[in-house]
Amino acid sequence: MTVKILVDDKKLEVQKNRSVLQACLENDIYIPHLCFMEGMSHPPASCRLCFVEVEGMEKPVTACTLRVSDGMLIRTDTPAVRRLQRTGLRLLLSVHHIDCKNCPANKKCELQRLARFLKIGLKPKGLENYLKEVTVDDSHPYLTYYPNRCVLCGKCIHVCRTKHGQSLFSFAGRGFNTTINFYVEQNSSELPCGTCYACVDICPVAALTRSEDKINSSASLKAEALSDISPDNLASST
Ligand code: SF4
Ligand code: SF4
Ligand code: FES
Repeated sequence: MTVKILVDDKKLEVQKNRSVLQACLENDIYIPHLCFMEGMSHPPASCRLCFVEVEGMEKPVTACTLRVSDGMLIRTDTPAVRRLQRTGLRLLLSVHHIDCKNCPANKKCELQRLARFLKIGLKPKGLENYLKEVTVDDSHPYLTYYPNRCVLCGKCIHVCRTKHGQSLFSFAGRGFNTTINFYVEQNSSELPCGTCYACVDICPVAALTRSEDKINSSASLKAEALSDISPDNLASST
């Protein structure tokens, strides 16, 4: 069963069970979002980015939690919507370690995409930057976690639960100190992570990386260092 809706003056006919966010994305109408994933029965609505205005509703609402209904009139780009989205993104950037040149997510990063779309810099003027003391968690045998890159979207938790029945991650701490926590079992060979890495693939900002990348990059640095002291180089430097 389908319903008819109007989004930014564009008429759409969409499945009745879709959220406004899904309906728009499926019809090439981009709405900024970070925490929504296809297949979530109860979107967490935690990123507070996917606001839209709907006729008859007093305030902008999150598009990921609102179901379409027949005759709905939706606006995705009003000043109120953009103000809320820019504020949400600035808040995320205020607790993010911006170091794109040295980040594996560079050029495929959702924060960069959002900043471009909302026309704000990654380092907005007048914005204080607060970073967590612990910059890297490498306690997991296969994964490395960077708390100051994490946008706490929860996609890693969701994808792990979907693939393995229960998630090997959870949120830990509160407020500014919230991070992602691993459940690492005694025997790391029993972990599915070494052949999975779905969490790394889904992470929008490289807050989770494969530990083997770290091993590979230190191996290649070592190889470079060794080639620097090869007999040829030593000969040419004398
Ligand atoms: S996660 Fe994105 S914004 Fe952050 S440093 Fe990496 S590329 Fe830059
Ligand atoms: S580690 Fe990545 S996927 Fe998981 S909550 Fe942080 S940003 Fe989201
Ligand atoms: S996608 Fe709707 S609040 Fe994050």
